[in-house]
Amino acid sequence: MDDTRGRLTKDGIRIYEAADFAGMHVAGKLAASILDASAELVFPGQTTAEIDRRITAMIGDAGAVSATIGYKGYQHASCISVNHVVCHGIPGDKVLKDGDILNIDVTVIVDGWFGDSSRMYVAGALSRKAERLIEVTHDALMLGIEAARPGNTFGDIGHAIQTHVEGHRMSVVRDFCGHGLGRVFHAPPNVLHYGRPGTGPVLEPGMFFTIEPMVNLGRPETKILADDWTAVTRDKSLSAQFEHSIGITEGAAEIFTLSPAGRFHPTY
Ligand code: MF3
Ligand code: CO
Ligand code: CO
Repeated sequence: MDDTRGRLTKDGIRIYEAADFAGMHVAGKLAASILDASAELVFPGQTTAEIDRRITAMIGDAGAVSATIGYKGYQHASCISVNHVVCHGIPGDKVLKDGDILNIDVTVIVDGWFGDSSRMYVAGALSRKAERLIEVTHDALMLGIEAARPGNTFGDIGHAIQTHVEGHRMSVVRDFCGHGLGRVFHAPPNVLHYGRPGTGPVLEPGMFFTIEPMVNLGRPETKILADDWTAVTRDKSLSAQFEHSIGITEGAAEIFTLSPAGRFHPTY
């Protein structure tokens, strides 16, 4: 994959050119549209394999390519992470039941540009406790995006997320992070969802990366199951995640993966 555009900072972070934003918007919009259309696929009795099959078809119908099929041996177009699964849940014959909450994470490649986004859904009725977790997680992502301006640092982003989450007595997962992306899936920097103000690389216009906080109702520790992918909370507490792909401009960050339908909440 060609990844020679723009230039690299001293921290190895690629600075893309103004013209490169257009390709990221197209890829991001496809990922977001697929997440919009996935809402009606989530209901009690549905399997996560069927949701993934439908997502695979949507990517093909759009003339795009899945970034995750074949990635380090992964075989699916989505990760579907239910309840205490933190991330990288593998679609399978698991049947959703009333009240289950799930993250669906989709990454597409359009004309060589990567769009990576994830959102929360509910099968059936949403409990008040799950709704609180989901709202705090989404607010934390958006506060992180607000902190993503030139002159601020990656530590400022992490700090904004961590402060919000811990202020609600929830915890930020430390074991997974956001990442640079553009013409590649995962590039520098590691975007931590916790941190101290003023630390880490300084943001510059032309940086493309994801912010994708995972938040637990209980403790932050995770473990990987024997399938080598599925990450779960060690204490079995409920976990939520939202992810956007963004681009840094002179002003507010551009969100490549905003929902064309204006959706993010699992029930409205
Ligand atoms: N989309 C995930 C991310 O946010 C990565 C999934 S890799 C996979 O970076 F192989 F598990 F699909
Ligand atoms: Co990502
Ligand atoms: Co993702």
